[in-house]
Amino acid sequence: MSKISGFSKLTKLEKIDWLTEHYLSNYPKAKTIIKQYWNTDEALQKLHDEFTENTISNYYLPLGVAPNFDIDGKLYAIPMAIEESSVIAAASKASKFWLDKGGFKTEILGTTKVGHVHFNYKGKTQVLKDFFENVKPRLYAETASITKNMDRRGGGIKDIELIDKTESLDNYYQLYCTFETVDAMGANFINSCLEQFGQTLETEARAYQSFISEEVFPEVIMCILSNYVPECLVRAEVSCPVSQLGDTDNESEQFVRKFSQAIKIAQIEPYRAVTHNKGIMNGIDAVVLATGNDFRAVEAGVHAFAAREGHYSSLTHVKVENGIFKFWIEVPLALGTIGGLTSLHPLVKLSLAMLDHPSAMELMRITAVAGLAQNFAAVNSLVTTGIQKGHMKMHLMNILNQFDASENERTEAVEYFKTNTVTHSEVINLLEKMRS
Ligand code: MEV
Repeated sequence: MSKISGFSKLTKLEKIDWLTEHYLSNYPKAKTIIKQYWNTDEALQKLHDEFTENTISNYYLPLGVAPNFDIDGKLYAIPMAIEESSVIAAASKASKFWLDKGGFKTEILGTTKVGHVHFNYKGKTQVLKDFFENVKPRLYAETASITKNMDRRGGGIKDIELIDKTESLDNYYQLYCTFETVDAMGANFINSCLEQFGQTLETEARAYQSFISEEVFPEVIMCILSNYVPECLVRAEVSCPVSQLGDTDNESEQFVRKFSQAIKIAQIEPYRAVTHNKGIMNGIDAVVLATGNDFRAVEAGVHAFAAREGHYSSLTHVKVENGIFKFWIEVPLALGTIGGLTSLHPLVKLSLAMLDHPSAMELMRITAVAGLAQNFAAVNSLVTTGIQKGHMKMHLMNILNQFDASENERTEAVEYFKTNTVTHSEVINLLEKMRS
């Protein structure tokens, strides 16, 4: 193990040499593997290299497609970037199930994003309030060059409020700022506005007479957007008569009883809620990744939303009323379809084209639907067959690959496991039998 300074200044090949010499000396295939994943198209490789720093290779994820999604009357094939087996199969199964039952209906409940200037102030609150009213027009005026384009697209700064947080933390105040960023995720736009607000606040404060005479000035701690976006919210729903949920009345009623109870368990039991929501995020993250959005931001915001009432709970809900089964999700999704990776990564551009170049609001709808479909499929399996049957069937290929199965062995194994339960050890037993 070795230290280095100036690593970022080395060329890609020098970085690889250093790395393989110091950290991968016992891994003879290292250089081959690193280079195997380079793109032969040099311009494309350069594009990927420049997305981030110190790049040595590309890390692939499969890009799959879940077709047959009827969302508000429009048919979509949804691109999903995910490595986990059975996620895309489950989404496809759910989309097909709801296709002849009215499909998915969605509603945008809000598109507001939030950011803060967090600052300290030790003086009288009323003096700060008077100063804020005074300085507010300047906050808008001095961000005019940043907001010009966004204003033209119908977005911009929605409001700036002064919030007194001193009951929770001594001397702590915020500028609570709300934004509309239209089709952009808007992180750079929001952070640029916030940093300008911070600068204006401090500069104007130094010239404000009441602060000068009291010798207390606001001190900016930090300016940053929040990934908690409870007002950038979308709802997606499916519904159908209970009788359509099984082959017989008995089957339908049992399904609805168990399914509804499963959702209620996820609402009150955090251990279950986390796994339940993880299944939802299988769908959401896969679309977020395929469309070049920031899945860490989405994850952080979604889980905070799931805990907004003081305990972690399910993102989906169910109701049965007058013989109608209704299943829905409400989820905060700050997504963009312009800017960032969306105009750079060829597969992101392709994914957005596959979705017919959606607006950010459309992408919110599609992504929420992917989450709802995933949850429907997972809970459906859980309360009927269990998930392992389907999961292990899809996982069979991974196990066969792990043991370098030949084409013949794969065909035989797939045939064999049509009527037998897939387990890791059963696959090994079968391979050993075939090989002896
Ligand atoms: C696995 O990735 C996701 C599930 O565990 C979700 C769930 O339990 O609802 C199947």
